[in-house]
Amino acid sequence: MKKTTPRSPRPQLLPRSVSIIGTGSHVPARVMTNAEFAARKELDTSDEWIRSRTGIIERRFAGEKEFTSDMAAEAARRALSNANVKPDEVDLIIVATVTPDMPFPSTSTFVQHKLGAKRAACFDVNAACSGFLYALEIGQQFVAAHTYNTALVIGAEKLTSILDFTDRNTCVLFGDGAGAVVLRSRGGDSHGILTTCMGADGAQGDLLKVPAGGSRCPASHASVDGKLHAIRMMGREVFKQAVNAMNAAATEALARCNLNGPDIALVIPHQANLRIIDALGERISVPRDRIYVNLNRYGNTSAASVPIALDEAAHEGRIKRGDLVLMVAFGAGFTWASCVVQW
Ligand code: UT7
Repeated sequence: MKKTTPRSPRPQLLPRSVSIIGTGSHVPARVMTNAEFAARKELDTSDEWIRSRTGIIERRFAGEKEFTSDMAAEAARRALSNANVKPDEVDLIIVATVTPDMPFPSTSTFVQHKLGAKRAACFDVNAACSGFLYALEIGQQFVAAHTYNTALVIGAEKLTSILDFTDRNTCVLFGDGAGAVVLRSRGGDSHGILTTCMGADGAQGDLLKVPAGGSRCPASHASVDGKLHAIRMMGREVFKQAVNAMNAAATEALARCNLNGPDIALVIPHQANLRIIDALGERISVPRDRIYVNLNRYGNTSAASVPIALDEAAHEGRIKRGDLVLMVAFGAGFTWASCVVQW
């Protein structure tokens, strides 16, 4: 019998530290103000109500021909340029979104094509407003395990495509946009992503959802007439859970790193409601001037909110090399996630 040479075992590589080496974001040009909603008498809303209950003053709306993948690709181009990485160096593209261009193919494959990142493997992640931090953890694992060297992680949404513009409970809250980061190992550098936490409670799915368009309720005349393709939210209940879950996720990430709120240079929270953000700051003992807020300008952009805020904070010089940054998010599912990075 012919003898076969035994295969050499796979080299055992230790997990390596992973850094965010570039950030980018993109929001559409069209600004939609509270005053424009208030001018629509049938909505019965006001700038004062929206501002005082949420902190939102304006948000961005994508054009009819501007898709989630367009915004994602533009944010990604900026992140790649910021990181000085060429598209053909990208090994993996993950897009977090609840508003994909279409059910399939994945939005990440459209982004790959738009960037010309031909070598990249692609998939989407759906964890609603926690999606970017879920995708960041996944991308981080691939790079830490030496499976890939360069990952592009994007959060992108065209939420205006799933809004019911006759429902004042939801339509004033959301906006469109995209943010992206490039992940790589910087070799021996101990800086980078220090910890990531993720969690979910599937029992609470009914409180925030888009009921139709999936296998439970495929698109039909009745689903369209019933506005079942738009966001439905029990706002007050979601609010309470968001405060508790964001606090718990932030506290867990800090504890894993043996840190306390006051050690953090900047908190980047999901941008849903200023009252939620303030409650979080109070609970983890971080004053408002060390919490990044841009929901006054963009509203809630779901999976895009954390990476847009991170990119703006980095470009405004709010984060310096060596700073500890805490990111934390909460969304439909329910899902929640947090991450501590040493910049
Ligand atoms: O991103 C994923 C996670 N999402 C969130 O974290 C969102 C969490 N929830 C919230 O941010 C808040 O609950 C909302 C901003 C959605 C609502 O604020 P609230 O203080 O919880 O208001 P509410 O839902 O308890 O409603 C109070 C009143 C109601 O009127 P009645 O029933 O008391 O007469 C609403 O109909 O405010 C009314 N209302 C409005 N009034 C004027 C709701 N939306 C509007 C509006 N303009 N746009």
